[in-house]
Amino acid sequence: MAYTPVRKVDVPNEHWDRLYSPVACAVMITTVDREGRVNAASFATCVRQNHEPTCISFTVEIDKDTYHNVLATEEFVVNIPSFDREILEKVRVVGLPFPRGVNELEKAGLTAIPGRALRPPRIAECKAHYECKVIWTKEWLHRLTVMGQVVAGSVDEDCIDKDGYAILEKLRPTHYCGRAFDNKFVASYEVMEVDMVYKGPEAQHKPK
Ligand SMILES: Cc1cc2nc3c(=O)[nH]c(=O)nc-3n(C[C@H](O)[C@H](O)[C@H](O)COP(=O)(O)O)c2cc1C
Repeated sequence: MAYTPVRKVDVPNEHWDRLYSPVACAVMITTVDREGRVNAASFATCVRQNHEPTCISFTVEIDKDTYHNVLATEEFVVNIPSFDREILEKVRVVGLPFPRGVNELEKAGLTAIPGRALRPPRIAECKAHYECKVIWTKEWLHRLTVMGQVVAGSVDEDCIDKDGYAILEKLRPTHYCGRAFDNKFVASYEVMEVDMVYKGPEAQHKPK
C-alpha cells in the first residue's frame, strides 16, 4: 500500500476523550523492548476506561512480546486503523506470532513515525494515536490487563472537526462486535440524537 502522507495534528488533552470514539475498537499497539527494538501487535480488547485523565486498557496473553515490553518499559502506543481492506490486511499480519525481536511493522509494510512523547513509534497509516504510560497491570487467566494513562494524542487532521470531535466517516474505526475473533471486521458509524424521555429532576444530570 502506498502511504499518502497526511499531516498529523496534535490533539489537546481536553479532546482526547472526544476522539477516542467509539470506546472499544481493533488497534495495533506499538511498544519497544529495553534495547529499543520496536514491536507491534494487534488487539481487539482495547477500551477507553476513563474520561479525565483519559485512560485506555487492553489485555494481552502472558509471554507475548507486548507483555514483556509493557512490563519492562511501561509505555505503549495505541494506533487506530480505519475500516479499509488494505490496512486491515496489515492488522492481520501484525497479529501473527513472529519471533521476539522481529519488527512486525516491517513485516506488514507499515511506516513507523516517532511518537510525540514516548519511545514506541506511531504507525503512520493509522488515523489516530494514543501514547500511554502504564499506571497499573493485573495478571489473571494467563493474561495481563494493562491500564495506561494517555500522555499524548494525535490524529490525521481530516478526521476531526473544529471542536475536536471525531469525524466518524473519516476515522472509520473497526470492531469485532457480534463476530468471531477471526477475519470478519465490523464497522458502525451511525449517529443518532436521543431525547431524554424521563422528566424528573434527575434528568438534569449531565454525564461526565
Ligand atoms: C485483529 C486482532 C485482534 C487481536 N486481539 C488480541 C487481544 O485483544 N489480546 C491478545 O492477547 N491477542 C490479540 N490478538 C493476537 C495478537 O496480536 C498476537 O498474539 C500477536 O502475535 C502478539 O504479538 P507480540 O508477541 O508481538 O506481542 C489479536 C490479533 C488480531 C489479528
